[in-house]
Parts: sequence; structure tokens; C-alpha cells
Amino acid sequence: ADITVHAGQAKKISDELFGVFFEDLNYAADGGLYAELVQNRDFEYSSEDGSREGWDSGYAWHAKDGNATLTIAVTDPVHENNPHYAVLDVQEPGAALCNDGFDGISLKRGEKYDFSLFARIPEGSKGGKVDVRLLNQEGEVVAKTSVTTTSKEWQKQKAVLTATADVRSAVLALVPQKAGKYEFDLVSLFPQKTFKGRPNGLRADLAQAIADLHPRFMRFPGGCLAHGDGVHNIYNWKETVGPLESRKPQRNLWGYHQTKGLGYYEFFQFSEDIGAEPVPVIAAGVCCQNSRGGGQQGVPMCEMDAFIQDIVDLVEYANGDASTKWGSVRAEAGHPEPFHLKYIGIGNEDQITDAFEERFTMIYRVLKEKHPEITVIGTAGPFNEGTDYEEGWDIVDKLGVPMVDEHYYQTPGWFLNNQHFYDSYNRKGAKVYLGEYAAHLPGRPNNLEVSLAEAAYMTSLERNGDIVSMASYAPLLAKEGHMQWNPDLIYFDNLTVKPTVNYYVQQMYGLNAGDEYLPVTVRLSEPSGDIAKRLPVSVVKDSKTGDLVVKLVNILPAATRTNIRLDGVVVADTHAVKTVLSGALEDTDLKPQTSDCTVGCDFTCELPAYSLSVIRIKKV
Ligand code: AHR
Repeated sequence: ADITVHAGQAKKISDELFGVFFEDLNYAADGGLYAELVQNRDFEYSSEDGSREGWDSGYAWHAKDGNATLTIAVTDPVHENNPHYAVLDVQEPGAALCNDGFDGISLKRGEKYDFSLFARIPEGSKGGKVDVRLLNQEGEVVAKTSVTTTSKEWQKQKAVLTATADVRSAVLALVPQKAGKYEFDLVSLFPQKTFKGRPNGLRADLAQAIADLHPRFMRFPGGCLAHGDGVHNIYNWKETVGPLESRKPQRNLWGYHQTKGLGYYEFFQFSEDIGAEPVPVIAAGVCCQNSRGGGQQGVPMCEMDAFIQDIVDLVEYANGDASTKWGSVRAEAGHPEPFHLKYIGIGNEDQITDAFEERFTMIYRVLKEKHPEITVIGTAGPFNEGTDYEEGWDIVDKLGVPMVDEHYYQTPGWFLNNQHFYDSYNRKGAKVYLGEYAAHLPGRPNNLEVSLAEAAYMTSLERNGDIVSMASYAPLLAKEGHMQWNPDLIYFDNLTVKPTVNYYVQQMYGLNAGDEYLPVTVRLSEPSGDIAKRLPVSVVKDSKTGDLVVKLVNILPAATRTNIRLDGVVVADTHAVKTVLSGALEDTDLKPQTSDCTVGCDFTCELPAYSLSVIRIKKV
């Protein structure tokens, strides 16, 4: 193929094109990115969270050895949002209250762990020393410390443990040294080594894997999670900030429990830590499919003012100074500086009904009036092949919403055949945020075939980067053994992070993003539309570094020689770096390889069969 790059016809494109979408799905938060090691630390699991047997306040806890009984009480709790707590009645010292963690508690030798709990001693008991131990699978102590609990009021106790061994699946044991009753709540254990050492922080290896994608933005907390599966299940950001004991745990619509320990503060902090624009998504006053959860269409009209005020307050929480009501909540949490929020998503893939339109319009008008500096991202609704997003876009056009969120999960063939999808979008209308996409095959593998279809499509996102402002693969995280959705970008267990082939495609784009697009013409020796869509190319320039990046996808079963002519470009340095991801279509375990290559204003490059090649040409 002969490729000509027309530098003289460069156009501006979004410099925030590729980012990530975090949803608490597949145990992405508790038991996942959120570094808390104690499961059900607040005794708030409820049989309503999911259908699993034994899923209640005592889940993951048990009394062991000696003679003791564990009951759950609700009288006078630490905080009204955390009504349940444990009462351990020790008849004979030696008995322990144990927690199994999330698939066990994984420990690393020599590492320190921050332990804390709220404890109270009821009338009639004296309390005293409580040993805190971590036990390996054989029941041997691999870390220990103690706290002293004698207060008749709830009191927070803290201690540090150091692991003396690597353990895949340890158990936490609280062992009171005297008989009597002990009340415990918010029992917590965190590795000290969280991402960037943040307290109440994130699992360092998983967070790093996300950071390594070089995402320009992070959308959170969902997805369906944001709008919930009933109006009472709508995610309320205010319940996710402030001291942990005051956060309101909730049933996760994906069938488990969310502590909200990973809440809006932590999402904003993480976005800042990885240099990504925060993109919170708030329900548009309606829940998933509008009518699930008792047939209620949406937030009752008499409650809409309060609902909208919460969204307005979010802007103050993120951007207001410390003298404002909500800015002070952020400052107290440790971030006096604003988070510089620019975007808010309203709605997620909602059915475009009257109930939706009415509420979305109300929210949009208030936000526009009170915070014209915020770019509101509307929703295009569910994708319907043929009519596309007609109804969603009608509302967006009518109201002049500046950006709209589209989602589609389709076959690799669909992605190849629809590389023109945005070519004809109205350049004068709203910008697009492609908030969720992934190529799906039967059986939903994460292999090279789906990854290359995504890579091909991403060349078209760059080409249309003047209208497509942002795009994020979905979903991001999945804990093995706890999945509700496949495929995902990063799989993990307690000890390992397993990036997929799709991850490397996203990373190759994230590392090699640009803010100018240079049009290309491709001439094939045997012109054919089918071959052309299997050989897509995209060329961008990164004005910060001055580098030119050529991305070439080859979805043909044979290596392809390409001649690349850079029209109007002076190549100062003929040494370039080439990164190539290639293999067999069914391969699931591949990593890109990097090598040096020689470039010029006219150079050749061989594209391996089934590959994505990225050539980074230094400062042109
Ligand atoms: O990404 C998984 C789900 O797919 C999201 O929660 C939802 O928005 C979409 O339907």
C-alpha cells in the first residue's frame, strides 16, 4: 500500500480523546481497586444485596475457638448510615472474631498494614486488650498487634501490623484477652503501600495499570451503577464522601454490596493523581430502563428540586473554595485546592421516554444557568441499529447540549464496517463522548481479533477527533471469580494484574495520542473496499512534543509492505521508535514489542499479518 500523509491539511482534534470508564462491576471497587482488605467491614451486607446464601450482616465473619458468640446489633450505632455492628460475647478468652477478606487476605512479607476499628464496651463488661492477628492458611500467626478497648462510647482504635511472610489467603482475627462483651464496627485493614500512599487509598498495582494507559479522563461511577435499578438505587454522590462511618453503603445493582469507601473524593483524587479529567456521571432523575424497581418512572417531581440541587452542589464540592459549604467538605477530607471539574454526565444509556426527557431538561437548564462553565454530557440512549440514536439526539439538538454519550458493544465485523460512523456527523452540533464500546465475539474472548477491530475503529475516532471528544473502552476491571460482564480490559485476582490484548491497544493509543490529525490517502495495488477497511491508518501530531505518530492496522492474514510519504514534513531525526502488537487472531496473551526503525519523508514499513503498528517520529 502507498500511504501519503498531507501535513498541510492538518486539523485540530481533541487532546482528551482516550480515557477510561470505571464502573463498580465485577468487584471493581470493594475487593478490587479499593485497597480495603476486610470484607463486610461495616456489617452492612444485607440479603437484599444479592441472592447468595448467607449474604447478610455476618457475611465473611465468624467466631472461632474458645467459647464466644457473635450477634449483630443495631442499637445506638457508630453512625445512622451504618446501623449494624458486631457484638462478640466472650465466655472464655481465646475466642476470636475472624474475617475472611475478599477471597482471603493477601499479604506481602515485610509490608506494613494499617488496622483500625470502632469499639465500644457495653454496660456489664470491662473490655481490655484485644489482640489483632493475621493467620496464614495453617492458622499460624504471620502478623500481630493489639488495641485496648475499654470505652463505653464508640472509639476508633488504630494499630500497624507487619507481615512476616507472603500469604495468599490470610484471615484477620480479633482476640479479646478477657471474657465479656465487645462491640465492633468498621473493622479495617489497608496495606500502607496504596497508590501514591493515599490513606483510604487504592490498590497500588491495579491503580498503576490504569495510570499506565495514560488516560486523559476518567468516567465514574458507572454505567448502570450510576442510575441504579430503581429510584432508590440511584447512586447519590453525597452518600460517598466524608468520614467512612458516615458513608451510606448500598446494594450494587450488579448483585453485591458497595461500601462507598471508594467514593467521589477518591475518584476525584485518583483522576488528579493520574492526570485524567474527572467525568462524573449522575442519573438523569430516572433509573435503568426508567421503570425497573417497582415500576416507578423516575424521581417524583416533588423531589426533583432537591435532586438537582445535589448536582449543583457537586460542582461546589469539586470546584468551590474551602469557604463554601461543599468545598469545605472536600477541604476537610484533605484537598483544599479545587479538583477543576469540567464535565458532568447526566444520564446513562437511558430509554428516551417522556419521563427521561422531562427530568433531563430540568437538570440541564439549571446546570446551564448556574454553571455555564461545566460541559454537560447528555445521553444518546440505547443504540438501535438502523435508527442509531435518533431520539436521544433530538433532545440534545433541541436543548443545545454540548456533548452526548454514545455506547455500543458490537461484533468485530461491525467495527470494521462502520469506520465511517462519525464521518458524516454534523460538525456544528454536539460533540460525542463514546463512553462505552468493545468488540464482542461469541464466548466473549479478549483476543487479538477483537482488539484489532477496536484498534481499526480507533483510527476512525482519531480521524473524527474534531467531533469525537472522548472515548473509553468498557468495562475496565474484572475480578476473577466475580464477574458479571465479559470481556473487560483488565482482569485481576488478589495478587496479580492481568492486562488483556485490548488493554495494550488502548495503551498504544493512550501513549501516542495527538492533538492534530493529518489526513492520509491510501492507494492499494489492488483497490478493494474490503481490503481498505482492513488496513486503516491514522496520523496525529502531538504539539507538546512536536512528534508525529503513524498508526497502522493490518487485519489481513499476510504481511503488508507500505510506502509512507510524509508530504510537507521535514523529518529532523531519522531514528524512530516502532511499537508492534501482532499474533494470531485467537491469541489472548500478547504484548507489544518495541524496536528502533529508520524513517524519512519517504520510507517503507512492513506490517506483520494481524497487527497494530505505531511509529513515533521525533519532533518534525
Ligand atoms: O459496561 C457495562 C454496562 O453496559 C454499563 O453499566 C451500561 O451503561 C451498559 O449497558
